Amino acid sequence: MDTITLKGRSLVTWLDYREEEIRFLLDLAGQVKAEKQKGEIHRRFAGKTIALLFEKRSTRTRCAFETAFGEEGGHPVFLSTQDIQLGAKESIEDTARVLGRMFNAIQFRGFKQSTVEALARYSGVPVYNGLTDSFHPTQALADIMTLEENFGRAPGKKLCFVGDGRNNVARSLMVICAKLGVHFTVITPAALNPAADLVETCRALAKGTEIRITPDLGEVAGADAVYTDVWVSMGEEAKREERLRLLTPYQVNQALMDRTGRKDSIFLHCLPAVKGEEVTAEVIDGPQSRAWDEAENRKHTIKAIMAATL
Ligand code: CP
Ligand code: NVA
Repeated sequence: MDTITLKGRSLVTWLDYREEEIRFLLDLAGQVKAEKQKGEIHRRFAGKTIALLFEKRSTRTRCAFETAFGEEGGHPVFLSTQDIQLGAKESIEDTARVLGRMFNAIQFRGFKQSTVEALARYSGVPVYNGLTDSFHPTQALADIMTLEENFGRAPGKKLCFVGDGRNNVARSLMVICAKLGVHFTVITPAALNPAADLVETCRALAKGTEIRITPDLGEVAGADAVYTDVWVSMGEEAKREERLRLLTPYQVNQALMDRTGRKDSIFLHCLPAVKGEEVTAEVIDGPQSRAWDEAENRKHTIKAIMAATL
């Protein structure tokens, strides 16, 4: 097999990565997690700086980037778009050029995928997508890491996403599952089906695994993991009433978890969760939930991505 080197690469979507490269990052994430658990100190980012740009709120993503970078000797700088010129007075291209002169890397969370792509194109440094309306790739890596901690290597496993099938989290999971050979089912009302072009792209990538889109909750049968996310993503607050109407039948509750037919199925959620809407407290706080391990794994996977690309 070729030696994997990801130095200098950005991560804007998993569509740009090969299976072996994702595998490499998952293995590295396992390594940095083990180091952390043993109390080992490393200095992978000593003398380096990262700009953390946020147009939208964040707890996990911001904290994962800041703590992972800082504890390895790097200097993270949090920049909310309330405070900087990006998008207000200065173009994205010009902001990218300036940040690229001052920082070794950039993280962007915000609305448009085109913004993170422009930052990657014009900054000359690795740029990481910390969530856009289209994708949430660092989340999907932590999700697969958590799946593998419970069931071993990803190929052939079955992951069901229940809820808003067109959102950033569902889309990123579809791509990473297609690349890694995980059977992926989106269970969603037809009005919230993921975009047909992305589904076709993922089906073409999926070697021998299934990418299914269905309104049928019975399709959780046999799932290793049942996954959900909020019904109303950031920036879509005006759609709240419509989403509640469409998605109330798709709540992940114990009765739905039991339809997997497996006692060892796990429950995943990227968080933040609205308990009582997309998931009941019984499930997310119950024995099948791995949502808290998954949140911790954000940090290890983000550290691995930065370590591999810087
Ligand atoms: N899962 C996730 O991205 O959480 P935050 O919005 O808190 O960063
Ligand atoms: N789909 C959610 C994910 C939050 C981490 C949102 O975009 O708000």
